Amino acid sequence: MSYISVRNLSYQYPIGNENVLKNINLDLEQGKLYALIGSNGSGKTTLCNVLRGYIPHFYKGELQGHVNIKEKDIREWEMGEIAKHIGYVFQNPFTQISGVKDTVFEEIAYGLENLGIEVDAIKKSVENVIQMLDIDYLRDKNPNDLSGGQKQRVAFASIIVMNPDILIIDEPTSQLDPDGTEEIFRIIDLMKRQGKTIILVEHKMELIAKYADEVILMQNGEVKMKGKKEDILSDKEVLQFDSTLPQYALLGLELRKKGVYLDSLPITEEDALEIITKLLERKEVCI
Ligand SMILES: Nc1ncnc2c1ncn2[C@@H]1O[C@H](COP(=O)(O)OP(=O)(O)O)[C@@H](O)[C@H]1O
Ligand SMILES: [Mg+2]
Repeated sequence: MSYISVRNLSYQYPIGNENVLKNINLDLEQGKLYALIGSNGSGKTTLCNVLRGYIPHFYKGELQGHVNIKEKDIREWEMGEIAKHIGYVFQNPFTQISGVKDTVFEEIAYGLENLGIEVDAIKKSVENVIQMLDIDYLRDKNPNDLSGGQKQRVAFASIIVMNPDILIIDEPTSQLDPDGTEEIFRIIDLMKRQGKTIILVEHKMELIAKYADEVILMQNGEVKMKGKKEDILSDKEVLQFDSTLPQYALLGLELRKKGVYLDSLPITEEDALEIITKLLERKEVCI
């Protein structure tokens, strides 16, 4: 059985009269970064909430089918046990900050304190994470005084310090500027290189093209497409499901419309440069 396996999953909220997840089947492998894409209301956050056990443990409603994480049904996991294996980063970093701690250092330590871990071990772990994420300059600041990007990095630190194997990250950059976004992706990439399994909801296709392994596309509660990022993000069928492609792929489609022959669509800047260089060699484009 795969690391995370979803079988015939359907879900209806307690208030609501139709399934918002419809017969979803997924097999996720350990150590890969999965980008979950799709338009607003397609069910991405709901699926994340099932994968982290929030549904059905806190949110009732009607859940059909099976979700197995590390070969154990999500219904059989204790919530405390899930928290040790799965870290969840919210869309809004303001929601994640506890509001009860006076310094960033204490804020990051908070989750470990709740697990009753010994003080020296907590300090060591917090110190490690602070170094890893390059946020030493924030350690004595009040979490409430941070910018959105800084808060988001502290939110990541307070999850990473718990050392979960699986990270579920819901639109972490939607409230950040390009610099803040780059910083968050640097952290996500670091986590990937440490072998974490990551499920990331994100709209910025260029970043997905650069960092993800696989893409899962949802629309109206269903998984419409899934596969390797190079296959999905260069497939114009994506556009039919209210989603979009990286700018480089859209440019490639425009070139094709103008009659330029391209073997494949570029998805990253690197691909685009390679393709343009080849076109210049074939003298199809003049400069
Ligand atoms: N707590 C809730 N109760 C009832 N319906 C909900 C709730 N949360 C989300 N929904 C509905 O479920 C559908 C999927 O929402 P969501 O999972 O938030 O989508 P996405 O994250 O892709 O934008 C939407 O139609 C939304 O209105
Ligand atoms: Mg959402």
